[in-house]
Amino acid sequence: MKAWLTLALLAALAGCVGHGHQSVLREAEKNPAAEGGGGVSSALALELVRRAKVEGYQDVPEFHVAQRTTAMEKFPCMKCHTKPLAQLQREQQGKKAAHWEVKLEHATPEVMDCATCHLEADLDSLATLKKAKVHMDHAYQVCAQCHQQEAKDWAGGAHGKRLGGWAPPRVVSSCVACHNPHKPKLEQRLPVMAGRSAGR
Ligand code: HEC
Ligand code: HEC
Ligand code: HEC
Ligand code: HEC
Repeated sequence: MKAWLTLALLAALAGCVGHGHQSVLREAEKNPAAEGGGGVSSALALELVRRAKVEGYQDVPEFHVAQRTTAMEKFPCMKCHTKPLAQLQREQQGKKAAHWEVKLEHATPEVMDCATCHLEADLDSLATLKKAKVHMDHAYQVCAQCHQQEAKDWAGGAHGKRLGGWAPPRVVSSCVACHNPHKPKLEQRLPVMAGRSAGR
């Protein structure tokens, strides 16, 4: 891999990491006395991350994923999705689309639409390709169907980000903490060095 690309990836990762950390700390500020408190900085912050036990990796020691739903503005989806989708869509006609900001730029439209990942019969949940229910906090299970290698690396600790220190429990960011599921490609930011090495 080219050096600048490595740097760009590191920069992207650092951006992500910073972001994740902030929300952890914000959570800690909101609720300083939760779960017994005590401990030092990152250990304390980690105490306060709401987490879910990762399922489906029997050959990897137990680890957890930071929950997503606690901070998701649109969740529970059932705030609005109390009627069948077709009815909601009819009622919304002529108005601005409810999810106008969600534009799929992922796999091609022949391969993927909303129902590839969302369970239309119960929008609070995600779905596997075979329409089995997946909790929104376990989105990695949906991603892993098509991105097996990344998911395997993630479970092993080689892809992604660990939160807090190295003492157990191991808590990691979910795929969607870094990749927008609707537009997963990370913006590649050119590091300052790239301009210089390009001959100026
Ligand atoms: C503020 C109300 C509201 C919330 C909260 C909400 N939705 Fe919707 N959603 C709608 C409406 C209204 C429609 C009908 C589509 C339209 O705008 O024409 C819709 C449509 C959809 C569709 C069909 C695609 C489309 O654009 O028509 C999907 C998929 C969907 N919502 C997923 C979700 C998920 C997943 C959540 C929770 C994470 C959620 N929605 C939360 C109001 C909402
Ligand atoms: C590749 C899988 C995938 C596809 C395809 C997909 N989603 Fe999502 N969507 C997710 C996941 C995973 C989340 C939870 C994200 C998180 O944890 O932040 C989510 C979150 C949402 C949310 C709540 C968060 C937000 O951004 O407002 C809405 C609304 C939503 N999806 C609507 C849709 C609609 C509408 C479509 C089709 C146009 C769609 N999704 C297609 C995986 C997908
Ligand atoms: C149904 C299969 C499928 C599912 C489910 C799926 N993806 Fe993808 N994903 C693809 C395909 C196809 C591509 C584009 C082909 C490629 O470049 O490898 C892609 C591309 C990507 C990329 C690379 C984007 C780029 O161009 O650099 C990322 C990152 C990604 N997906 C993350 C996710 C995450 C996170 C989830 C879970 C929320 C997910 N995917 C779920 C099929 C899927
Ligand atoms: C802490 C942030 C982080 C987490 C968590 C994370 N990724 Fe990534 N991922 C990255 C970065 C950084 C890259 C490299 C940038 C790029 O290629 O676009 C990347 C690249 C990818 C790619 C593109 C690989 C390629 O060769 O182009 C896929 C697909 C992907 N990740 C899927 C996943 C899946 C699936 C998960 C969860 C099981 C996940 N990622 C978790 C940061 C993350």
